[in-house]
Amino acid sequence: MPDLIIENGTVVNATGTAAADVVVDGETIAAVLAPGVAETVGLRADRVIDATGKYVIPGGIDAHTHMQLPFGGTEASDTFETGTVAAAWGGTTSIIDFAVQRYGERVEDGLAAWHEKADGNCAIDYGFHQIIGGVDDEALKAMERLVDEGITSYKLFMAYPGVFYSDDAQILRAMQKARELGLLTMMHAENGPAIDVLAAQLAESGRTSPYNHGVARAWQMEEEATHRAIMLADLTGAPLYIVHMSAKQAVEQVAWARDRGKNVFGETCPQYLYLSLEKNLGARSEEWGDFEGAKWVCSTPSAPRRRGHLEAMWQGLRTNDLQMVSTDHCPFCMKDQKELGRDDFRAIPNGIGSIEHRVDLLYQGVVDGRISLPRWVELVSTTPARMFGLHGRKGVIQPGADADIVVYDPQGHTSIGVGKTHHMNMDHSAWEGFEIDGHVDVTISRGTVLVEDGEFRGRAGHGRFLERDLSQYLV
Ligand code: URP
Ligand code: ZN
Ligand code: ZN
Repeated sequence: MPDLIIENGTVVNATGTAAADVVVDGETIAAVLAPGVAETVGLRADRVIDATGKYVIPGGIDAHTHMQLPFGGTEASDTFETGTVAAAWGGTTSIIDFAVQRYGERVEDGLAAWHEKADGNCAIDYGFHQIIGGVDDEALKAMERLVDEGITSYKLFMAYPGVFYSDDAQILRAMQKARELGLLTMMHAENGPAIDVLAAQLAESGRTSPYNHGVARAWQMEEEATHRAIMLADLTGAPLYIVHMSAKQAVEQVAWARDRGKNVFGETCPQYLYLSLEKNLGARSEEWGDFEGAKWVCSTPSAPRRRGHLEAMWQGLRTNDLQMVSTDHCPFCMKDQKELGRDDFRAIPNGIGSIEHRVDLLYQGVVDGRISLPRWVELVSTTPARMFGLHGRKGVIQPGADADIVVYDPQGHTSIGVGKTHHMNMDHSAWEGFEIDGHVDVTISRGTVLVEDGEFRGRAGHGRFLERDLSQYLV
């Protein structure tokens, strides 16, 4: 007898929707049956979940998170435990976090440190990308071992000189190695050295408020770096994935490259779809006289990008010039963390926490008529699985796949607010006051119910490390 049948729901895959019952045996999906078939053949299960009027979708995969990331003299406030519990509440059943190597450190040590942080602490499955913050002969050699470790993507930074930054020569060498190994290069594309000059000039002229973070990180910085990354990737033949895109002009660069048949992909984040100077921060002075703007300080910046950039992100998702929406979940509390930059925006740790809201926030695109139901599922689950080597196992409701399933109630409602719906380890929300149509009713990871009836029933340690295959998008 199977363990579970989720019956009477509408199964939504990236390929379309169907009324169907989902049969779960152990950790995997055993069958997807047309309505009535289970009854006709007398199939019973230990448990039945009635999904009448609800969507049954593959669990969300957030391919860009930073639990416990050391940054700017502090550390991201979600642990692997608190962050993955919050993820489960929001219908996310897998994350891919970033193990960190900095200049002068060994890649192996960075990776081992990340395993130590995550092992036994995650409520959902997790994988790693590798940040290479110091490209040298030793790091290039170490990249050769990543695929065997189940790590098939790595990130370089064109920003943050002195911390994670790689110059063009380093980027070129890393991409050559990636091309040889089949690794997917993920790029933080902003011109860091130029941004640092602008930021210093602003601060020295007394413009120290959070607003100036976005002034220094102008769209030209993102467009230029995106184009440079595309050309370096083209030279080497390495596929390229640009992370956390927020500028319209940078997306145009990705579209330009894709139109010429280059293997270039773009990721945006909920903050770049919803947060803008006019929409959320319009009531405030452009100078953000108060310190509240620190909540939205992240890189690339969500503000002061103006509304036109948001529209360009939605358009990119519709035209598939952007393929991915990840959170870049990198939470910091205001108290003792964001406050480090009270007198100088350059000291505000960069990052926004959204892991709990990605599935819901993207669903608003369905509610608003911007994307279809299958595209929603493709964005929250299927493409991340294919992009990052989890295809077949995750991102789809089909026999043989892991039983990572979310029952989503389109009639439900969520008011986002700290103290109301919040499970992330933060003392504020960048999303305070957002009203969400739709609700994650049940979250299931490999056949185990993690969230149901408004209760968390999972446990830290349930989550397993995901050894990933090569990206399905490599050619
Ligand atoms: O502001 C951000 N994005 N913080 C996390 C680090 C990164 O660059 O992804
Ligand atoms: Zn980045
Ligand atoms: Zn990031």
